[in-house]
Amino acid sequence: MKQSKLVAVSAVFITALVLGACSGEKEEVKLTAQQETEMSERLAPDGEVALASEVASAPVASTGGSRSGEDVYNSKCTTCHASGAAGAPILGATEDWGTRAGKGIDTLYTSAISGFNGMPAKGLCMDCSDDELKAAVDYMVENSQ
Ligand code: HEC
Repeated sequence: MKQSKLVAVSAVFITALVLGACSGEKEEVKLTAQQETEMSERLAPDGEVALASEVASAPVASTGGSRSGEDVYNSKCTTCHASGAAGAPILGATEDWGTRAGKGIDTLYTSAISGFNGMPAKGLCMDCSDDELKAAVDYMVENSQ
């Protein structure tokens, strides 16, 4: 009888301790509204947060559509393809483009998107979509025949 009372008392005591510890812990992780917002931003999946803050600056979003092949070429590809820097095939130089066109347009698209020797991936147009890059390749090939 005495022993069971002791067990009961210590059980109550232990429960109180555990509860005390838990509620204490709860106090510690209480966040301010500001901290909660910051934390949920950090935990949000990639892209979701970026989207909200980048919409205004993203060229594709601000023009409401994709850039034409000519625009992409003129703003991004001329650096190398107008001068032939690093051995880049020059726009309008049929001899430069003849053998390349022979590879098939899909191969050229892949080279533009993923890179090929001295040709950097995406032609260094990091915000270009695949379709914009393909349009730029079409523009280059069409004007080099
Ligand atoms: C930093 C210089 C540079 C820039 C910028 C650049 N290119 Fe190139 N590109 C090259 C070089 C060099 C080659 C030739 C690679 C080789 O044949 O070894 C090349 C080759 C290519 C080819 C032919 C690939 C093949 O398979 O024969 C295509 C298509 C092409 N570039 C598209 C583009 C497009 C589209 C852009 C702009 C979005 C661009 N390039 C921007 C350097 C550049």
